Amino acid sequence: MTPSHKPIIILGIESSCDDTSASVCIDGQIVSNVIYSQKIHESFGGVVPELASRSHEQKIIPVVQKAIADAGIYKKNLSAIAFTRGPGLIGSLMVGVSFSKSLALALGIPLIEVNHMQAHVLSNLIEYPDIVYPFICLTVSGGHTQLVLVRSIFDMEVIGTTIDDAAGEAFDKSAKMLGLEYPGGPMIDKLAKDGDENRFQFAKPNMAGYNYSFSGLKTSILYYLQKKQKENPHFIAENIHDLCASIQKTIVDILLHKLEAAIVQYPVQTIAIAGGVSANSKFRMEISKFGEKHHLQVCIPSFQYCTDNAAMIAIVGYHKYLKKDFIGQDTEPLVKNYSI
Ligand code: KG4
Ligand code: ZN
Repeated sequence: MTPSHKPIIILGIESSCDDTSASVCIDGQIVSNVIYSQKIHESFGGVVPELASRSHEQKIIPVVQKAIADAGIYKKNLSAIAFTRGPGLIGSLMVGVSFSKSLALALGIPLIEVNHMQAHVLSNLIEYPDIVYPFICLTVSGGHTQLVLVRSIFDMEVIGTTIDDAAGEAFDKSAKMLGLEYPGGPMIDKLAKDGDENRFQFAKPNMAGYNYSFSGLKTSILYYLQKKQKENPHFIAENIHDLCASIQKTIVDILLHKLEAAIVQYPVQTIAIAGGVSANSKFRMEISKFGEKHHLQVCIPSFQYCTDNAAMIAIVGYHKYLKKDFIGQDTEPLVKNYSI
């Protein structure tokens, strides 16, 4: 850094669903990433939008203060504020959008809008700044399953998506059928470690193209469990590890099957993963093997950048700042139809 260099310092804000997060990025390096994950939804078996927005309202100030303190900077040092504009829950988004607008106005600095799905894909830039384009990213979260062709940093196309449940929902709904708490994905991952993944076979969809479907799998698990529980009421408890491992394997197989087809039509040198489900240990292991088999560079983000986080918003904010891609104070949240 030359003595005259004024660092570009971006504050990122994420509040699209049930995580309140703030992060500071200095000259393209993430220096803090504070995430408050709301626990209040666990007893409801899913995110309750009204409760989520109230919790964001309570947490946003302390989370931002901690992100700024962890970064060792002051508010007055900020160059711009990047916020998640959507997609997401309206009440949750409004807390982050309104907060960002107010702070930017008070500090007299620019505002940068960020698309949450684009940010999941570009979260890979945090740890792989020299990623080779074009690459294909498999974004798998609780709300989305997208196969994205990334030609260059802001030129991306969704080549496949889910027509029903997202991969994370498939994990969460399967977990619910097994009597596990929400969100069940991490619990399935944990219990699967001691299970035989080839013990049970569940339905895999036969979809044309690159689209995904997980509803058939859900139904096949439900019918199988109902049948087995009639024969033995303790069936789930006695087989929980094997059930988790077999369900997890089926979901990961479905995800990788489409990726295998996509790399034939779209020859790339790099594949990446993103979103909450990319925290899954089986998925991470299989995607590494996939890369070795096909001689591809594989980008696997650290756990803190897989699930919802503001670091991915801050890094996108940094790259948009370089292009002077700012947005006015009349901006509003975009709940859906926010194409990447
Ligand atoms: O990206 P994310 O934090 O939020 C959304 O934008 O949806 O993803 C949350 C999803 C949940 O469905 C959760 O069960 C799943 O990611 N998830 C996992 C794991 N960790 C989180 N699924 C499987 N295995 C995991 N280890
Ligand atoms: Zn997300």
